[in-house]
Amino acid sequence: MGKVRAAITGVHGWVPEDVLTNADLEKMVDTNDEWIRTRTGIQERRILKEPGTASSDLGARAVRGLLEKTGTSPDEVDFIICATATPDMMFPDTANIIADKVGIKNAFAFEVNAACSGFLTALLTAAKYVEAGMYKKVVVVGADKMSSIVDYTDRSTCILFGDASAAVLLEPVPVEENTGVMDAVMRSDGSGREYLYLKGGGSLHPASHETVDNKWHYIYQDGRPVFKAAVQGMAEAVQEVMARNGLKPSDIDWVVPHQANRRIIEAVANMMDFPLERVMINIHKYGNTTTATIPLCLWEWESQLRKGDNLILTAFGGGFTWGAVWVKWAYDGGK
Ligand code: UT7
Repeated sequence: MGKVRAAITGVHGWVPEDVLTNADLEKMVDTNDEWIRTRTGIQERRILKEPGTASSDLGARAVRGLLEKTGTSPDEVDFIICATATPDMMFPDTANIIADKVGIKNAFAFEVNAACSGFLTALLTAAKYVEAGMYKKVVVVGADKMSSIVDYTDRSTCILFGDASAAVLLEPVPVEENTGVMDAVMRSDGSGREYLYLKGGGSLHPASHETVDNKWHYIYQDGRPVFKAAVQGMAEAVQEVMARNGLKPSDIDWVVPHQANRRIIEAVANMMDFPLERVMINIHKYGNTTTATIPLCLWEWESQLRKGDNLILTAFGGGFTWGAVWVKWAYDGGK
């Protein structure tokens, strides 16, 4: 094969059975269904309740399903990246643990942490290894057990997040096919760390009585500045990747946004002139599942996708980190 691109050749998701509804949250904190629906678009989320399970278990279930449906043996996988903001442990990293649980023995494996932009970061990284000719069967998985870092007494964050995972298979295709990961604009701004963080348990504030008493092992978010930066960051990244590739809104078949808030998604779609019918939105069912939102959408819409469809994937998250990736879909319908 001459020059290649990395094409997504399969996608699979996994969500826990247990549902946490807005009505359930009304009994836990001072909130109400109407506020949550109108301010975020969320109606329910899934929570991983099985004792002794972690993000790697979510990831392993998505990856196992992906390998089965694409007819890929674990032995064939030569590279696996896991994007997560809720690693099982500080180390070893979650990609290694998922690989072990799935029986992937012959692969390079590592984790990336770019919060809600983690899946795009991992996808772009994996695509570059494929383009360089190093790997041929690559798994990119987003897995987050957000319930492990949510304070269920904090109404400003506990209504937002859910647990899930989803994975894609990447394989090389000749550039003449004109499919795969085509281009990307990725950015970060570390000064955004004051608005969205989890500060306990790292090398700055190692776990102690103080970190636990202060609840530093939970997510903190100052929602308004994050909201503003998210709309601006995603719109600019989408605009840039489209402009430099000569793409107009009418050329885009699907926009696949990170699902943090329905109002953010609508604002970006509006600024970009994308009709909402071509924007994948499932936040009402799952809430914000961090690294899983984008592949979970691809999984849910898989049967409607056609070879050659232009997709713009876009995300914004803690860091700040954000970006947009242009993907040309590589196959028709569900597998
Ligand atoms: O995925 C990573 C990136 N994250 C994001 O993109 C999230 C960005 N931010 C957001 O989505 C929104 O800022 C939130 C959904 C987090 C909050 O919505 P908001 O419209 O920005 O609300 P706010 O924080 O400005 O709060 C408005 C009011 C406040 O009351 P006062 O001060 O106006 O009296 C809050 O105390 O709503 C109150 N409030 C609530 N009320 C009922 C905050 N949370 C709740 C709640 N139920 N759960």
